[in-house]
Amino acid sequence: MSAWQGRHVVLGVSGGIACYKSCILARRLAEAGARVDTVLTEAAAEFVRPLTFEALTGRPVLTSLWSRDGALAHVRLGQDADLIIVAPATANLLARVAQGIADDFLSAMLLASTSPVLLAPAMNDEMFAAAPTTANLAALARRGFHTIGPEVGALAEGPSDRPGRMSEPEAILAHAARLLRRDSALAARRIVVTAGPTRESIDPVRVITNRSSGRMGYAIAEAARDRGADVLLISGPGSLPPPAGIEVQRIETTAELETAVRNALPTADVLIMAAAPADYRPATSAATKTPREGGPAAIELEPTTDILAATAGARREGSVIVGFALETGDAVAKGRAKLERKGLDLIVVNDALEPGAGFETDTNRVTILGRDGSRVDVSIRLKREVGDVLLDEVEKRIAR
Ligand code: CTP
Repeated sequence: MSAWQGRHVVLGVSGGIACYKSCILARRLAEAGARVDTVLTEAAAEFVRPLTFEALTGRPVLTSLWSRDGALAHVRLGQDADLIIVAPATANLLARVAQGIADDFLSAMLLASTSPVLLAPAMNDEMFAAAPTTANLAALARRGFHTIGPEVGALAEGPSDRPGRMSEPEAILAHAARLLRRDSALAARRIVVTAGPTRESIDPVRVITNRSSGRMGYAIAEAARDRGADVLLISGPGSLPPPAGIEVQRIETTAELETAVRNALPTADVLIMAAAPADYRPATSAATKTPREGGPAAIELEPTTDILAATAGARREGSVIVGFALETGDAVAKGRAKLERKGLDLIVVNDALEPGAGFETDTNRVTILGRDGSRVDVSIRLKREVGDVLLDEVEKRIAR
């Protein structure tokens, strides 16, 4: 499940040109499963009509203290929400909130609020640099309000090399998800995730590799980041872009992966070994390209190291170690044997022969087995959702 599933988010919007980006924010939150209540100031409603947000969130929009529900809703909403995001937060809104002025729905709600608040300021660069704005933001920070941005970039008036532009919706969402997940047992923990295939050279142009895309590992790394974890992603070759806010270390061969895992283990609270390292590599790698004529009829292979087994001694005491097993038939029994053999706390098993599971898909169907005998079956879900179910299992096992 995504960090947003079933969460109640209030999106406060004050009146600036960045309002158009708030529509994208509203849409993304709703798509991710959040219940989104939008609160517009009068000025915001001049930029984007309430109807737009109603259509994007499927919920009524609040604009006035004097509407039928307004009088009480401004107190209730600010206390019930899991998170309040104010984007854009204009200079005027920041000033009113910092002073405790409560002359419209949004400012009154923020004054009465006990929920975490994330402000995404957006304004002219001169207004942002002005002393009153600096003082207002400092006062709000002392009251526990969180802030993201503003960034340097184009403003309504043209390009600028000073901050003023609202952060992009994706960045706001990533930051907001971290605030939501501060209750997670993974918050501030070091999580090492390996992902993707390895590549073993036959000669300078030919390799032995496998069909792993890395998607499962990348999805787990993102899910862990969104729970506030400090994530190291050790990635084999592939085409996936590096995820925002995650340290990525690239490796190519199984031997390089082993070194990277060994180095990371002493400080890792969790190792999730989602990579598909090659089990065999060519016994020798030719220094120059082997010609077709007179080339070998067979390639002699030698086994690579079993990384999980070989690095077991480098594990930190109390850490949670997770392996994967992609089988073809009899997956659960084989998975349980592998869990024992490799000294794992959890193993994620799937069957490559099932449609919608395994490599090169966006979905997966897995069974998660625990050393304690537990078994969780996850029906076909997006890999990100599978990652969240797995992290729920990891959280149960991590020492508080
Ligand atoms: N793994 C590892 N080192 C290897 C190969 C695999 O640490 N050289 C890890 C994988 O990342 C995965 C787990 O071990 O988390 C199981 O991988 P799998 O290939 O299923 O295990 P093998 O021991 O190679 O078993 P099999 O004989 O079924 O191939």
